[in-house]
Amino acid sequence: MRGKPSPVRDARVEADVFAQALLAWYGDQGRELPWRQTRDPYRIWLSEVMLQQTGVAAVIPYYQRFLERYPAVEALAAAPIEEVVDLWAGLGYYSRARNLHAAARQIVACFHGHFPATVAELQSLPGVGRSTAGAIAALAFEKPAPILDGNVRRILCRLFAWQEVPTTAGAQRQLWEWAEALTPVVRVHDYTQAIMDLGATVCLPRNPRCPDCPVAGFCLGHALGLEKSLPQRQPSKVVPTEVQVVLVLAWGGRLLVRRRPLQGLLGGLWEFPGRQPVSGQAPEQAAAEELRERGLSGRLEVVGTIRHAYSHFRVQVEVFKVQIQKIDGVAEGGEGEQWLPEEALLELPLHGAHKKVLALLHEKLSR
Ligand code: ADE
Repeated sequence: MRGKPSPVRDARVEADVFAQALLAWYGDQGRELPWRQTRDPYRIWLSEVMLQQTGVAAVIPYYQRFLERYPAVEALAAAPIEEVVDLWAGLGYYSRARNLHAAARQIVACFHGHFPATVAELQSLPGVGRSTAGAIAALAFEKPAPILDGNVRRILCRLFAWQEVPTTAGAQRQLWEWAEALTPVVRVHDYTQAIMDLGATVCLPRNPRCPDCPVAGFCLGHALGLEKSLPQRQPSKVVPTEVQVVLVLAWGGRLLVRRRPLQGLLGGLWEFPGRQPVSGQAPEQAAAEELRERGLSGRLEVVGTIRHAYSHFRVQVEVFKVQIQKIDGVAEGGEGEQWLPEEALLELPLHGAHKKVLALLHEKLSR
């Protein structure tokens, strides 16, 4: 590069030099990851969905376990959804597991088990947005399709010194345009992996490693000394907190748990029974009401409070334990409910907040 960095606004030739610099670095410093040895779209799709909201280290064992259990898309499509959700347990964002299963069925039913190769068709699959579709098209089929995940967005904001919030519709349009202009027409697989690696290992959110960056010479953000303050942060929103009451009902060494309905938030995961207090109701009252409606009686013992954050709200969970002395027909457990030995709960895909409930319970017992 000559003189001052000149970001690749429109010029194809600059984009080519950019891609070459990135590819040379990737050849030297790229990470070896299990999904990089394959061009099988099933495997690539599986890894991309798992990596949507989860880091590489956490994904690897799940990726391997899924492939052992479901070596091809037909096996995944034939599996019961409950089994898929159970195997996903611990990876979080469970709608991904439900979408994965629905997409597998769609591929078998509508595409005769052959993965579609165009971005438009890939985007018709549940859980596959434009960036994931681009990644599959590029990684499995060598199509010059751009990606724009969180890492690439950060890279582009710095590269082009984009100083506005990057999430508006206008910003997204501009960023996609840049992503497209930079994507080469050859070695698209390697380029796509390379730009992901750049975001994950060099162009880091807080402390970008500009001296080690193979494309620092192209980066307007770096030239202006703005790399640490880009991308522009979203003004933080006030998130509401919801109070919930949870009852740990113990009976003859067993605890009552229930599976959440498959549709909706945390679908298919397990939890202790409970409810939200109605307006103005104290948590103890709500807990007592839950007990009464189940035809149970016993002393409410306060276990403690746990807090848990979801993307759009937080919960404050008041936990009570009740040792049931006598049980009548009503308490046999409703639909989807089971009395299970405490050890069995450790194996169960409880959702995150209720894992904390179980941990709190253990902590209390060991004190
Ligand atoms: N994040 C999303 N897709 C990825 C991939 N293929 N390799 C590494 N990190 C990723």
